[in-house]
Amino acid sequence: MAKSVPATSRGNAFFYGFPAQKQHSRSRERLIRKAFFAKLAQNPNFFGRRQVMTNTPTNLSQAPDSIKAENVSAAKISLRNVSKTFRSRQGSVLALDNVSLDVAEGEFLCLVGPSGCGKSTILNLIAGLDTATEGEVLMEGEPITGPGRERMVMFQEAALFPWLDVLQNVMFGLRLKPNLNNAEREEVAMFYLNLVGLQKFYRSHIHELSGGMKQRVALARSLAPNPRILLMDEPFSALDAMTREQLYGDLQRIFVQRQKTIVFVTHNIREAACLGDRIILLSPNPGRIAHDFRVNLPRPRDINDPALSQTSIPITAALKNHLKKSGKIAEAD
Ligand SMILES: Nc1ncnc2c1ncn2[C@@H]1O[C@H](COP(=O)(O)OP(=O)(O)OP(=O)(O)O)[C@@H](O)[C@H]1O
Ligand SMILES: [Mg+2]
Repeated sequence: MAKSVPATSRGNAFFYGFPAQKQHSRSRERLIRKAFFAKLAQNPNFFGRRQVMTNTPTNLSQAPDSIKAENVSAAKISLRNVSKTFRSRQGSVLALDNVSLDVAEGEFLCLVGPSGCGKSTILNLIAGLDTATEGEVLMEGEPITGPGRERMVMFQEAALFPWLDVLQNVMFGLRLKPNLNNAEREEVAMFYLNLVGLQKFYRSHIHELSGGMKQRVALARSLAPNPRILLMDEPFSALDAMTREQLYGDLQRIFVQRQKTIVFVTHNIREAACLGDRIILLSPNPGRIAHDFRVNLPRPRDINDPALSQTSIPITAALKNHLKKSGKIAEAD
């Protein structure tokens, strides 16, 4: 059984390894803010950016040398007979029941299923933000006992720091990279901002951005430290179709070229078929693995490719079947 660590508030947990212990998001935010200003007082150029390039290339083959030099391999994740019960004043909820799952090194795994079937719970367990009631959650055979910088989470809502501007938000995740100097951090941050099409907004304040733009900053921030594992909880649900299409392409390129293991939660089966090597369909009450589909289409995949519809048909049918059984309305795209 996994070791016990305190649970954080869901969805708002700032998960960038700083400080090491988890706090409730408000007090954690205050702590991080205090540390940030202390750092700024020590070194006013902590985020100095007079030299910022706004025409940084977006092609990954033209990535800054500090990124290219890094050789980070993908990692394997395993859930072994994992059950998770949430206890509240209303009673207890068995969110996951005896779930066993292997995510291979370098695999892009999508989790789909109706609301409440335990998708985010699985992601939080892998992130180390929560612990299993029974069973084990392992990375490379070692129990996951808390957050780690090799596992980056991107939530449904962009958990950005409102007192930092766009560039500083992306640079924040990079301060854990002692081998990079400030200029290199800036270059890497700008590279990822360019990748998500926000290079012109690097000085903007978070409140000046639309919901979709915030989500793109969050994506850039998750990608910038080059984590081995990316855990993404409906990261594109708030975006418009055009931006989403562009990001499907970017994410696939990053996945292939930068050797990631990705666990991606979505309600959108076509999105899952576009991105995933494998699609796990979960059924609710309690959360269990209902189907395991493999997607063998070549990459890069285009969301508008008719072959994706063919792949989606049996998955949508299986989902509808489960929804019918549980008497819920179909949510599949
Ligand atoms: N902290 C919590 N306290 C009590 N119950 C919880 C908690 N977190 C999740 N649950 C319950 O566990 C079940 C699974 O929740 P989870 O958030 O993993 O679902 P999900 O598949 O991500 O749903 P959605 O698609 O709506 O995001 C739900 O019944 C939910 O109410
Ligand atoms: Mg969820």
